[in-house]
Amino acid sequence: MDYSCSKSSNNRMIPFANPNAQFTSYKRDIEESILKVVRGNNYVLGEEVKLLEDEFSQYIGSRFTIGVANGTDAIEISLRALGIGISDEVITVSHTAVASVAGIEASGAIPVLVDIEKDFYTLDIKKLAEVISEKTKAILLVHLYGHPANIFEIKEFCEKNNIYLIEDASQAHGASLDNEKVGSIGDIGCFSCYPTKNLGAIGDAGLITTNNSEIATKVKAIREYGWNGKRYISTICGRNSRIDEIQAAILRIKLKHLNKDNKRRVEIANIYSKYLKDTYISTPKKKDLAEHVFHLYVVRLDDRDALSNFLRKQNIITGIHYPLPIHLQPAYKNRLKTSHSMKTTEEISKQILSLPIYPEIKNTQIEFILENIFNYLRIK
Ligand SMILES: Cc1ncc(COP(=O)(O)O)c(C=O)c1O
Repeated sequence: MDYSCSKSSNNRMIPFANPNAQFTSYKRDIEESILKVVRGNNYVLGEEVKLLEDEFSQYIGSRFTIGVANGTDAIEISLRALGIGISDEVITVSHTAVASVAGIEASGAIPVLVDIEKDFYTLDIKKLAEVISEKTKAILLVHLYGHPANIFEIKEFCEKNNIYLIEDASQAHGASLDNEKVGSIGDIGCFSCYPTKNLGAIGDAGLITTNNSEIATKVKAIREYGWNGKRYISTICGRNSRIDEIQAAILRIKLKHLNKDNKRRVEIANIYSKYLKDTYISTPKKKDLAEHVFHLYVVRLDDRDALSNFLRKQNIITGIHYPLPIHLQPAYKNRLKTSHSMKTTEEISKQILSLPIYPEIKNTQIEFILENIFNYLRIK
């Protein structure tokens, strides 16, 4: 996929995400590590995967990490490892990547969708009482855009109701709340390492984190046909969701730079917010004690399509994450249980706009984007 949405090689064009720029930043190390794998004789689940799993555990502060093929599989396998499946309900949000819901359905479980908090775009704890039932087995809590959701209160809710808490931290590698990294707080953490993510592979990859050794063992077995230590003998039913050595080697290099890259994302977000704060465009908010890692920089305005079109004419590409709530999409419409009102989800989906953000974007490019936003505001 070309994130620039354009075949033009015009170097003035500013995409909203730019994984190739990150490859260029770490080109020599990445190319060397790929060659090392290619020249070896172990291409999946080898030494690089083991090292990545250890290093990511250390980074997140969880006892175990298990590499899988992608973030959607991470969700499905996590649910299966917890014994959740057919006719069990899992609560999540409608304002997320469709993968969150697809991962739940892939496990056989039934997604139940609730509305979000307007300020942070994450699950509204007040809605949980409306949807919880004796079938509810877990909450899949999405830390959207890089901002931690209301995890401590929701963890308390889960403990009180004896249900599992799974974190979908696919957009929040390195984000934390009260110094605890997301992905280390619930029963399981799920991460996508899709190329545009804060920790992105050059292809598909996913990571599962947990502090529970029994869960880790089950996840490991499920990712490879249900084998548990003994090859060719399945002790439980599993599948193939292996991560390959090349992706693991690339992720190990990028993990070394993740804090620095996240810091740069925060710097970019601060520049945008500083200049937009006195306009009618609503800028991202941050909870006390939250470390936001700005996977996306999402603003809100009623005339977002007009602004997006205006910027596109200046070769500035924006995104919409996400344009249609999942409960209104053709594949899901009228068949999923939701909270009584989905008002915030439905309202904001028409207003949100993702401005370009990636560690390698230059300050002059941010200035160019802001200049054009102000040009738009002047003539509109
Ligand atoms: C919130 C969220 N959950 C899950 C996923 C699924 O990840 P993948 O595309 O690696 O399957 C993504 C990736 O887009 C995501 O943003």
